[in-house]
Amino acid sequence: MLSYDVLIIGGGLAGLRAALEVGQQAKVGVVTKVYPMRSHSVAAQGGINAAISEEDNTEDHIYDTVKGSDYLADQDAVEILCDEAPRAVYEMDQMGALFSRTEAGRIAQRPFGGQDFPRTCYAADKTGHILQHTLYEQALRHNVKVHNEWFVLEILSDGGEVRGIVALDTHTGKVETIAANAVIVCTGGYGRVFSRSTNALINTGEGMSLAYHAGAALKDMEFVQFHPTTLYGSNILISEGARGEGGLLFNSEGERFMEKYAPSKMELAPRDVVSRSMETEIQEGRGIGDGYLHLDLTGIGADLIGDRLPQIAELARTYLGVDPVTEPIPVQPGQHYSMGGIGTDVHGATEVGGLYAAGECACVSVHGANRLGGNSLLDTVVFGRRAGAAAAAYVKGRPRPAPIPDSVVQEHENKLSALLAADSGESFSPVRKEMEVAMMNGAGVYRHKDGLDKAIDQLDVIKKRAENLTVSDKTRKFNFELQGALEFKHSLLLAEVIAEGARSREESRGAHFRNDFPERNDADWLKHTIATKGEDGPVYSTSDVSITKHQPKKRVY
Ligand code: FUM
Repeated sequence: MLSYDVLIIGGGLAGLRAALEVGQQAKVGVVTKVYPMRSHSVAAQGGINAAISEEDNTEDHIYDTVKGSDYLADQDAVEILCDEAPRAVYEMDQMGALFSRTEAGRIAQRPFGGQDFPRTCYAADKTGHILQHTLYEQALRHNVKVHNEWFVLEILSDGGEVRGIVALDTHTGKVETIAANAVIVCTGGYGRVFSRSTNALINTGEGMSLAYHAGAALKDMEFVQFHPTTLYGSNILISEGARGEGGLLFNSEGERFMEKYAPSKMELAPRDVVSRSMETEIQEGRGIGDGYLHLDLTGIGADLIGDRLPQIAELARTYLGVDPVTEPIPVQPGQHYSMGGIGTDVHGATEVGGLYAAGECACVSVHGANRLGGNSLLDTVVFGRRAGAAAAAYVKGRPRPAPIPDSVVQEHENKLSALLAADSGESFSPVRKEMEVAMMNGAGVYRHKDGLDKAIDQLDVIKKRAENLTVSDKTRKFNFELQGALEFKHSLLLAEVIAEGARSREESRGAHFRNDFPERNDADWLKHTIATKGEDGPVYSTSDVSITKHQPKKRVY
């Protein structure tokens, strides 16, 4: 039987950074449902924040992050994120990451939303891709064992401690187990819970759900980030870097409408502010076509676009036939990121002994109610490293992980066989689409009790239908229809927790905006939302926010 001291689920940036850390001290393995270079980390475009300029300082990075979070971030965690940022960026540079450079040869930095300094280090508009290549090269160099295309079915825990995992090896179609004294979940976000998302099709969120079922808490799940500029129709990301380099937003009247909403920061206000402004313009009839706006890069020039924004230019040309050198790009807000996730401390630890999480699937919480662009790549490498170090310390001196009984495999075999054998019922795909649309309509950029009630009622019906799914492909190897059905059930749990959290939080804060409660309410809601597994579904509670230096005040941009 396979066994590791520490097993990591997910081969993106957080997972690989954690693996490199553990590998120095303990036996480490990685299971990942896609080959690492297909992880969604590669889709990150605009950059990674660090106060590395002599004119910048970490205290300002901390303040911008806390203010951007609408004061919900835990400030002790934000201090760690920003303090460790320069080291993390230089470490990636020294590992070989090809950052764009200034004339003087220093790592180039560009302005990003909600920050008072051009602090975002970048590699053209392919920063995630470059960082992922770098970490994957290092993982290969250090012989990190990666189980590619394994889909995890369960994180095993017993007596409050992790025991390992059960997974479906998609190559063979066989159920396998891996014993481990510690498991680090690094599975990214759940974007595909929403119909309009920048996320890859793989982002179905099962890591969060698996951790929840193993006994960990989900935290602040109602805080969902909608990126302002996604390509109209396909919702492929058009980096904030485009606005950082001088891109402007216009409505159907040709107005640079951000002037009304954020006169000092304009297009570089934080994402929640820009997305809401765009949605307002569209809802009030100043959208273009059937509901988009223009991102105009024509003033930037072909050379700069070619040098710093080549990928988004190619995406606009390929998917919309629009050449950004000469024409504006049609854009609309779309789901992009999850501020919430598996609740952890600043070492990535959950309440379950040996269970850790890092990256987008985790909620440390450094992003609070709204993440600043450029802080998510930073989160993956800072907290990936920290979770790896903590897990390695946790397993030190422990006996080899106990073998997992065969009955566990049999139980999962039986479940899969039953699903494959079912010949009546619905295919998951159209039912999942209904969930995505219900979430986009009810729990999107603007929310209201009536819309959330409706979404929750729809989810109740969808949950019942999901108990009766059928899979037309009855084979076992590379059966992505089977995998899709399994993913969908996890996504549904997350949809429920997001919508319930949004309905109970009767205030507006960061990316969570309630039309029926348009003000922030610190007296009642300066707190985190917690969801844990109960007998009959999620049980909700709250916990305190850590405030060190920055008392909450009104956010003005
Ligand atoms: O807009 C972007 O390039 C995305 C960056 C991020 O989400 O941090």
